Amino acid sequence: MYNTMAGDKERKIRQLKHNLDDSRMREKRSEDMDAYQRVFDARTISQLVKMLNNGVITEIVGIISQGKEANVYFAYGEERLPIAIKIYKIDIQSAKWMKNYIKGDPRFKKIGTSPDKVIFTWCQKEYRNLMQITQAEIPCPQPLFFRNNILLMDYIGDKNGTPAKKLKDSVSDLKKPNKELEVTLQYIAELYSKAKLVHADLSEYNILYYQNTQYVIDVSQAVSRSHPKAKQYLARDIKNIINFYTNIGVSTPDPLEIYTTILHKGN
Ligand SMILES: Nc1ncnc2c1ncn2[C@@H]1O[C@H](COP(=O)(O)OP(=O)(O)OP(=O)(O)O)[C@@H](O)[C@H]1O
Ligand SMILES: [Mg+2]
Repeated sequence: MYNTMAGDKERKIRQLKHNLDDSRMREKRSEDMDAYQRVFDARTISQLVKMLNNGVITEIVGIISQGKEANVYFAYGEERLPIAIKIYKIDIQSAKWMKNYIKGDPRFKKIGTSPDKVIFTWCQKEYRNLMQITQAEIPCPQPLFFRNNILLMDYIGDKNGTPAKKLKDSVSDLKKPNKELEVTLQYIAELYSKAKLVHADLSEYNILYYQNTQYVIDVSQAVSRSHPKAKQYLARDIKNIINFYTNIGVSTPDPLEIYTTILHKGN
């Protein structure tokens, strides 16, 4: 009995590692063994196995994106609903700059000193930010669950596993780019006035465009309005968005005017 259970667990772990390690990952692995190992530390694997055992995750299908700080996977969750799993890598360098976006946020008084604790806080921060954005009724992936460096959220894309495109890759799909500009600016304004947040890394790379709707993603660095650098980040978000739409030929308003209006209305 014991042997069968142990064998079962090993089989599950083997299957899990195989699914986490799709062909894109394998290519990368030889160049960047270090980054590979950082995602798949024993603790992360063990947390994923727990989630598979208790049914929060039913199956991890494959990788959507491999980034510097995190990998994102397409998976099935409870009742086999499609979900996205974002796994943050435990990395000392990342933990150093992440602290700057956590310190000064009244929601996170205790950050912890070790890199893993900082990254766990970072993951929790993304979960809480997604929750605030969902409550403000701004389209984003709804957060489902988090544990340590693992975040589960709604998956945006086709049910067959083809994820939504980024706004930067959707230019030819935009029927009325000037209307989309209004929508993005409205999101920035509502993030500030309703979710009480500044995204702080908003650009055409962190907006998904799916079925004529823009979805705000990648919100781990988003800061509370009272963060000492919130206004600086707000100005940068506005500039990034204005630059993107200007470059695709949309006539755009003065970023300073947008900034002043948002601050004026939001307070
Ligand atoms: N909920 C989701 N549904 C579908 N695709 C997603 C989801 N979340 C993230 N992705 C995909 O994964 C990519 C990376 O996600 P995200 O921007 O949150 O992480 P990141 O750490 O910034 O990664 P990168 O360094 O590649 O930008 C996104 O550009 C998008 O293609
Ligand atoms: Mg991103």
